[in-house]
Amino acid sequence: MDKLLQQRVDRIFDNIEDKEVSHIIIKNGNEPFVDQTFFYLTKVTSGIFEQSYVIADRDSKITLVTSILEEESARKTDLNIEIYKTKKEKNKILESVIKNTKKIGFNSTEIDVESYMDLKKQFRGTKFVNISDAIKNARMVKDKEEISNIEKAAKMASLTFKDIKNSISEDKNANESSLSALITYSMMKNGASGPSFDTICAMGKNSAEPHYTPHHNKLKKGDLILCDYGAKYNHYCSDITRTFAFHADRKMEEIYEIVLNAQKEAIKHIKNGVKSSDIHRIASDIIDKSIYKGRFIHGLGHSLGLSVHDGFGVGPSSKIVLEENMVITVEPGIYVPGIGGVRIEDDVVVTKNGCRIITDAPKNWKDISIT
Ligand code: GLY
Ligand code: MN
Repeated sequence: MDKLLQQRVDRIFDNIEDKEVSHIIIKNGNEPFVDQTFFYLTKVTSGIFEQSYVIADRDSKITLVTSILEEESARKTDLNIEIYKTKKEKNKILESVIKNTKKIGFNSTEIDVESYMDLKKQFRGTKFVNISDAIKNARMVKDKEEISNIEKAAKMASLTFKDIKNSISEDKNANESSLSALITYSMMKNGASGPSFDTICAMGKNSAEPHYTPHHNKLKKGDLILCDYGAKYNHYCSDITRTFAFHADRKMEEIYEIVLNAQKEAIKHIKNGVKSSDIHRIASDIIDKSIYKGRFIHGLGHSLGLSVHDGFGVGPSSKIVLEENMVITVEPGIYVPGIGGVRIEDDVVVTKNGCRIITDAPKNWKDISIT
């Protein structure tokens, strides 16, 4: 069986404090109860796998339990596959895979209550132990294959820069929704399976709202255009923000340069062993020393992986110490209500002595300013 998958299972078990937990069960439900750990432990790259399970034990044996609907997709892996047609069959399979156990680990943050109650009923007398922290810890540091997937997703997102800039420069009817659609199209054209989250495209004063939802607002002279988007590749996410300026004034350039400086300084200090809260503070101190004090209103970034927000945040109260092969975003911003906002976001892989920036879209004022 796949060595990397076995290592992933071992990493989770190593992080479980209760050594009596002999099996872990991951249930992948219907949206929104998708558990990305299901994909972490199977590497399936095709199929939705609703109502499917992955069961792993301390001998690193992994069993994928799924319905006949996903059989073809499941057979592309070299895992142990168990296929069910009915609920009764599914229950029988679960009981045959999980035998002689006192304690089963489950992921409380992703499973729906009904599924959890069903499992408890089915395995009466067996204790269920919440292992969500162990899963988060295991997934925090990425292996080679995960980094390669994220790097590809980062490249696909970075390549859209040209298409966005052309659209702002040439499309007289460009609006927030049309630009969002173009971003998704461009990323998929570059190889993405889809966007990693709903694209944020905010023009003018709307860009002062960090998680703005695009509407049909038309581009006009003097606008800042904040585009926050990411590509998905083999279930892995990238996340990038570029803010463009369309016939913008000097004040906007000033805001832009402060954010860019804050981002570059923070990136300079990222390396194995550094507290993530310190990295946040480097950027927030730069912004708070300017006339935009208090206008950086969110954390500097977050872990990135199978989920866009993949476990921990990089903020003032984050307890995480950076480790080699963690992947994080660095995304300071300044938001001025009534005028607009600037955010610049890149994805980086933490290394022993620094970090590697994996999103490579241009970000100097001359690159993003369109006149
Ligand atoms: N890309 C949106 C966020 O990181 O919050
Ligand atoms: Mn982000």
